[in-house]
Amino acid sequence: MNSNKNTHKGLYIKNFGCQMNVYDGDRMQEMMSPYDYGSVNSVEDADLVILNTCHIREKATEKIYSELGRIKKSLAGKGRKTTIAVAGCVAQAEGKELVKRAPIIDLVFGPLTYHHLPEILKSFENDKSKKKKAIIDIEPPDNDKFEKLPKRLKANRNVSSFLSVQEGCDKFCTFCVVPYTRGVETSRPYSEIKNEALELIDSGVKEIILLGQNVNAWTNSYDKMDFADLIYELSLLDIKRIRFTTSHPNDMNEKLITSYKDIKKLQPYLHLPIQSGSNEVLKNMNRNYSSSEYIDIINELKSVRPDIAISGDFIVGFPGETEEDFLKTQEIISKIGYAHAYSFKYSPRPGTPAGQMEDQIEEKIKSERLSRLQDEIKKSMYNFNKKFLNKNLPILVEKETSTNYFSGRSPYLQSVHFQSDNSCIGNIVEIKITKVNENSLSGEILH
Ligand code: 5AD
Ligand code: SF4
Repeated sequence: MNSNKNTHKGLYIKNFGCQMNVYDGDRMQEMMSPYDYGSVNSVEDADLVILNTCHIREKATEKIYSELGRIKKSLAGKGRKTTIAVAGCVAQAEGKELVKRAPIIDLVFGPLTYHHLPEILKSFENDKSKKKKAIIDIEPPDNDKFEKLPKRLKANRNVSSFLSVQEGCDKFCTFCVVPYTRGVETSRPYSEIKNEALELIDSGVKEIILLGQNVNAWTNSYDKMDFADLIYELSLLDIKRIRFTTSHPNDMNEKLITSYKDIKKLQPYLHLPIQSGSNEVLKNMNRNYSSSEYIDIINELKSVRPDIAISGDFIVGFPGETEEDFLKTQEIISKIGYAHAYSFKYSPRPGTPAGQMEDQIEEKIKSERLSRLQDEIKKSMYNFNKKFLNKNLPILVEKETSTNYFSGRSPYLQSVHFQSDNSCIGNIVEIKITKVNENSLSGEILH
């Protein structure tokens, strides 16, 4: 069903992978709106299907081919002319290889070129030659993508919204494809970010999550601002909460750390990936910090904001990782007391230095380490949440999950469920926590 009755063409976007893709997917949708495209929930109702892909792990890439196979099946014999586009980092990395392997694809464009979509779609549709030829548009352009994107749409805006402030990465961790797919590290100008924040606020957004591959490396030499200044300036706007993700430990400076004390709207939550607890592995990953330097940063943060929730990313089975290395990673979990963490088996990626390393770890060992690490993470998440039992928390209400049941987020990004007779979406309400588990909390609204 077309969710917007006034639009005539169906647009189906499926995002894979990171939050950056969620943001890009939203922008694509907003970009196609003036061309009469409205969101639909199924491929069968779509005139344009966009798979917004992720290249971080091999599994993520393989998912795209199975998804394309499913799309082909569901469109077979329907007689509808549907344009199939692949966007995102797989598109950027594989380009025409994608079309060779899956000829159903009509358009391929990357994270740096998605603002060309209306243009390439038009030229694809206008191509009257009998032979269908896919359009591949992945060359990094010299124009600013963000300048070409339309204003943020008011319709369907959530209480909490991403705002991309920084893209790309120059860190070149040896396991990671991002510097090759998302390009060099670039920061958006302050004025552009502020305007987008105002558009979001105008559409009812109450919480802004600043996004970037290395968001805390954001800088603006024109206005002589760093990332802490950016957060401060945005906190002066009519917004309730500010968050940011993802940060690199080497870009955590004193000023940013003290922002957690000084800027009240900045929520006490930080996603700061360490990847491994072993210095040997960190060195081979080219992370450029030691585990004790990472712990020092967390201790400094806790000294200015004792209640801060820390979240992280971990990779197990990086080439050469010994059982001893792995145990150091296990130890980090309890030392930091993570509120949340993502963990992955190392996945060799084409073109990355670690992919060429000799001492690759057997799949069986990777799986076994991942499962041990995840048990430790679950314990840590439960221990973090447990502290809030019978306490009151201010919850920014995001949605009604079923009649009279609502959910929202605590300052620590915990998902909190409760019952209420009145719609309180977009407000901060006080909830007494009565039940906790590792993934969420529930409680009663206090009147
Ligand atoms: N294999 C496994 N995990 C990876 N990540 C990035 N590249 C790889 C890879 N090749 C993880 C890191 C990063 C997160 C976004 O994805 O932990 O922080
Ligand atoms: Fe990838 Fe490392 Fe850059 Fe993060 S900092 S995007 S892991 S290269």
